[in-house]
Amino acid sequence: MALNSDDKKRIKAIWTAMAGHGDVYGGEALYRMFLHSPQTKTYFPNFDFSKNSAQIKAHGKKVVDALTEAVNHLDNIEGCLSKLSDLHAFNLRVDPGNFGLLRHNILVVMANHFPKQFDPCTHQSVDKFITAVSTALTSKYR
Ligand code: HEM
Repeated sequence: MALNSDDKKRIKAIWTAMAGHGDVYGGEALYRMFLHSPQTKTYFPNFDFSKNSAQIKAHGKKVVDALTEAVNHLDNIEGCLSKLSDLHAFNLRVDPGNFGLLRHNILVVMANHFPKQFDPCTHQSVDKFITAVSTALTSKYR
């Protein structure tokens, strides 16, 4: 599903609130994912899964920074995430089904922290965006 100009405006607008706080918001999304979908923990051996752990925060920041990079390249998401796609497909071998779990949790975090901005249209646009990112990160599997 291609992102239209309204999607792009809404994604950029709400992402400015996420971008500078990846450790907090990304960390919370990961914490939620690990808690309600514990099978996702298997990809992270020797990881401290407790709330606000240094590892959760550091990894949350990496995830949000990668999404910020994609927000800055909305017309070429696949190209800008190509290396990350190689990593997830060939090195980490993350089951594509897990991407929907992280997407869901990122949306929950945004809805929680930015309830005014996260109206139904923004919800739809951000969902399309993270779906496009997930498609890019799992495209190398095929
Ligand atoms: C929106 C989707 C996702 C994004 C943007 C993303 C982004 C990233 C980034 C930026 C890194 C660090 C790469 C590096 O250090 O060079 C990474 C590593 C990793 N990702 Fe993802 N990821 C996503 C989804 C997932 C999912 C769904 C899983 C599994 C449930 C997963 C598992 C991992 C693992 C195990 C690592 C390596 C951690 C480490 O040892 O440092 N990722 N990811």
